[in-house]
Amino acid sequence: MPPTLTAPLAPPVPADPDASKVPRHVAVIMDGNGRWARERGLPRIKGHEEGSKSAGAVVQACADAGVQYLTLYAFSAENWRRPAAEVSALMKLLERFLREKTPEMIKNGVRLRAIGHLADLPAACRKQIALSMEATGNGQALTLILALSYGGRNEIIDAVRRLATQAAAGEINPAEIDEAVFSGTLDTADYPDPDLLIRTSGEMRLSNFLLWQLSYTEIYVTRKLWPDFREAELHEALRDYAQRSRRFGAI
Ligand code: IPE
Ligand code: IPE
Ligand code: MG
Repeated sequence: MPPTLTAPLAPPVPADPDASKVPRHVAVIMDGNGRWARERGLPRIKGHEEGSKSAGAVVQACADAGVQYLTLYAFSAENWRRPAAEVSALMKLLERFLREKTPEMIKNGVRLRAIGHLADLPAACRKQIALSMEATGNGQALTLILALSYGGRNEIIDAVRRLATQAAAGEINPAEIDEAVFSGTLDTADYPDPDLLIRTSGEMRLSNFLLWQLSYTEIYVTRKLWPDFREAELHEALRDYAQRSRRFGAI
């Protein structure tokens, strides 16, 4: 009998040949709102307002591009050092952003999460965050993680304290603390490390963002100020990322 000509099935052709090059997790240091406003002779808060539109645009563009996690650095632990009026305007803007965007997030399958010392935030903000997290909890397309009153060093210290407390109580053997255990003790325990870090406004620094998680992340810095960073700029960053060769120390 002739051999049956049933060759193994060809692997399915991916719909998007570059799909594998889409970063699973994008993290963004949204910087340059103040400079954007200054260039126009406007108060800083106008820059923040325009920047919140960029945040909305980038959330949508990431969801559309197939990014699964997007972490936005919205307020750092160090940003409390700004004038009280700017801090309070930023908090109000955050609350408004979440209130206005929640229906759209639900519609687009965006699930909201937050990291950082949320207890530092005003009660009205915390309430809105809780409402939006609850309302978007079933989102399957994109997990949007807002870093709020977030500092990478604080986060590491908090994790060390938790582990030390467990060790002192005999609940964990110090010899068992490895990278996975440590990662699982951070605020970001439920998320993969970022594949791509974007920083706008040209500053070449991390500003205390995700210090542990960014160890092998690809970094993309653009001189564009955050209010000018929209869908087209995000696509440019994704194209740049797709050209990178990630080696993780191997050859
Ligand atoms: C980023 O823009 C927004 C936050 C840090 C909250 P900035 O306010 O830092 O803008 P620049 O750096 O002063 O231009
Ligand atoms: C980093 O921007 C924090 C956020 C984007 C929320 P900053 O403007 O606070 O950082 P530095 O002060 O320039 O390092
Ligand atoms: Mg700044």
